[in-house]
Amino acid sequence: MSHAPVTETLPPVAMRAAGAVPRHVAVVMDGNGRWARQRYMPRFFGHKQGVDTLVRTVNAFAARGVEYLTVFAFSSENWKRPSEEVSGLMGLVLVAVSKYLGKMANDGVRIRIIGDRSAVSEKLRRAWEHAEAITAHNARITLSVAFNYGGRWDVVQACRQAIAQGVAPEQVDEEWLSRHMALAFAPDPDLFIRTGGEMRMSNFLLWQAAYSELFFTECLWPDFGDAEIDAALAAYAQRDRRFGGIRPNEVVPEGT
Ligand code: FPP
Repeated sequence: MSHAPVTETLPPVAMRAAGAVPRHVAVVMDGNGRWARQRYMPRFFGHKQGVDTLVRTVNAFAARGVEYLTVFAFSSENWKRPSEEVSGLMGLVLVAVSKYLGKMANDGVRIRIIGDRSAVSEKLRRAWEHAEAITAHNARITLSVAFNYGGRWDVVQACRQAIAQGVAPEQVDEEWLSRHMALAFAPDPDLFIRTGGEMRMSNFLLWQAAYSELFFTECLWPDFGDAEIDAALAAYAQRDRRFGGIRPNEVVPEGT
């Protein structure tokens, strides 16, 4: 008995990434502190440069056809940093919104904020809401900024919604949870990049990145640019994405 090529029996999500541009890229923007230290400057200087890099990077990904970019700006764990660094980061976000929001809005960027807003100041919450409102109809690329975000927090907050809404246990499945998590408006990230040389996810998008392709670079975030973006996209295009299936051109021998 002959067997049909496995491509015909794979679930529809299985694909080869070769030549494909990821729809959704997630980035852990690490290395700002080291970048500043290399220049004998305070860490804040690195974060400030990091914002400029982010603004350039959104356009660079959009120009390459990426539809969603999600970046880790402040984790649930970053509150453990020295208080002056935490308040510096909060202030930097306000400055960044007033400095760059107009440009981003004109560039067709839709801005979304994901994370627990309950712990941030009223002023920052209002700045986020304003940024989301005035870019809501943009469609070139969606920039999601994860702020006071943690992957574990995200799972917990979705579960809490189920309980608060009195959803029956048998109705709470992967699909239900996905629809109630912070990135419910976006497809799962195809490519997960971390700059700064560390090789871990640090509690970023734990649920959504289950099948993301991972790319780690030594490049410190403020130096991240066209060369690193192209290297990451080229690496992605070489990956076989199987989502738990098998290679599309692999034929299953009889009896297996
Ligand atoms: C990690 O580098 C970086 C952060 C914790 C902050 C990233 C934030 C920005 C780039 C600013 C985002 C602002 C807006 C408006 C979205 P690190 O400090 O851990 O660097 P290190 O590992 O070299 O110490």
